Amino acid sequence: MSEIIQLYNISKRFGGTVALDGVSFAVEQGNIHAVVGENGAGKSTLMRILSGVLQKDTGTVSLSGLEKEFTSPLDAQREGISTVYQEPYLVPHMTVAENVFLGHEKTKGFGIVDYKHLNARTEEILATLSLKIAPTELLAHLSPAEVQLVQVARAIAFSTKILILDEPTASITEHETRILFRLLKDLNTSGLTVLYVSHRLREIFELCHKATVLRDGKHIGTVDVAATTESEIISMMVGRDLKSSADVPRSRFQADVRLEVRRLTVTQAAVHVSDVSFKVYRGEIVALAGLVGSGRSEVAKALFGLNGIAAGDIFIDGVKVEIRNPNDAIRHNIAFVPEDRKGEGLISTASIKHNISLTGLRLISKLGFVRGSTELALANRSSQQLSIKTSSVDAEVSTLSGGNQQKVVLAKWLWLKPSILILDEPTRGIDIGAKSEIHHLIFKLAQSGVSILLISSELPEVLRLADRIYVMRDSRIAGEMSRSQASQEAIMHMAAIGN
Ligand SMILES: Nc1ncnc2c1ncn2[C@@H]1O[C@H](COP(=O)(O)OP(=O)(O)OP(=O)(O)O)[C@@H](O)[C@H]1O
Ligand SMILES: [Mg+2]
Repeated sequence: MSEIIQLYNISKRFGGTVALDGVSFAVEQGNIHAVVGENGAGKSTLMRILSGVLQKDTGTVSLSGLEKEFTSPLDAQREGISTVYQEPYLVPHMTVAENVFLGHEKTKGFGIVDYKHLNARTEEILATLSLKIAPTELLAHLSPAEVQLVQVARAIAFSTKILILDEPTASITEHETRILFRLLKDLNTSGLTVLYVSHRLREIFELCHKATVLRDGKHIGTVDVAATTESEIISMMVGRDLKSSADVPRSRFQADVRLEVRRLTVTQAAVHVSDVSFKVYRGEIVALAGLVGSGRSEVAKALFGLNGIAAGDIFIDGVKVEIRNPNDAIRHNIAFVPEDRKGEGLISTASIKHNISLTGLRLISKLGFVRGSTELALANRSSQQLSIKTSSVDAEVSTLSGGNQQKVVLAKWLWLKPSILILDEPTRGIDIGAKSEIHHLIFKLAQSGVSILLISSELPEVLRLADRIYVMRDSRIAGEMSRSQASQEAIMHMAAIGN
């Protein structure tokens, strides 16, 4: 097999941070090649260099033996490299078709875009991906999962030889993951080389031929997936033995109902929700499972006052409450970690410290001004607790790696000590070590009496954390199961087919 990409001695610094430190390895033509490592290991930085978004400080990139210099994404595209980025790069107020063809529009002359062609061609591409998305839909109306799949459509729409995917499954469910994998395997059979970044080792063993491990910006090794084991890769990734992630013992949660939702209906949202009823007991972890678009996130947003409630009642500790906006929700001690950290979770140009303290500003500010020392202590404590990788909590959130940004979103709500905590994809993009720490934290919160409503597309996470599971299908609750009744198969079956 010939080598299609050769990387030699690639280094990259951001100020005092060494993101990549002399990385050398090769990717073989026709392989699906995984790149793995903990949050902040340098994976996305390397992918951005390969796609021309960032310039390396030292080293060389060669394609099939010829040295290349990429000064812009267009340079990489010309060489047949397409990328699906960890943070979506698309334009929300444009249509799906416009986004797919962004920068590639066919004009009819005089700069007039041929929309008929654009929409028809996009429809074709979406059909090969078995996606039921209208080419004329505005991107802003899509769920994060759909946006992710539109990114894939965009990447394969043009003559691509090397496809780079940076955590493509972080925001999609098992079902869409299957669609994506089938597609990648087909494209790979017809010669496409793929670079695949993911924290889910299961996916790497299913999909990839080779795996490269990065740690603290260094190349630790490149191994044959068929000849290695998960634990070998994990120990290469973390360079130490992983803290044993024993579950916190769960006592039976108390018998009182903390949150009760009766016949909730939400009509003014991307996905309508009808007649949804469920309960969460004190200290209980309840998961809402289901496919993307089944209405899980819409329920969560309604409970936090972000979606208007058309009908139905919410009771907290037996008392009927009105939640019209997030302030109402916060007043009732509800906290919400949203799935879309860019849009709803973080102010990326503000500091880590400021983002963490923002939610409870009123609580830590005395006489109207924020006590700097309190804010700093709080941020340092959170950053330690969640092992946020940064030189200082004064750094801008935008300088953090994807997984570390997610930890900031969590930190910002956890310190408020809510009595009801709604988590929408809480460990998306978070590495194995940190994920087990976050699971531990969730168990401890539940143990201390917090009622937790969890939405996660990762079924192993649902099965590990949840005491009870409600499965949503087509904007309704399809059924309920206890921890002991639940299995991946049972959940997927109910999510896809119903009872
Ligand atoms: N624009 C930037 N400015 C400053 N530091 C940065 C910038 N981009 C990345 N870094 C730093 O470089 C290091 C590597 O980040 P990178 O995003 O490549 O990690 P990653 O392996 O993709 O992690 P994750 O799994 O969390 O996505 C991190 O310490 C990060 O904080
Ligand atoms: Mg990354």
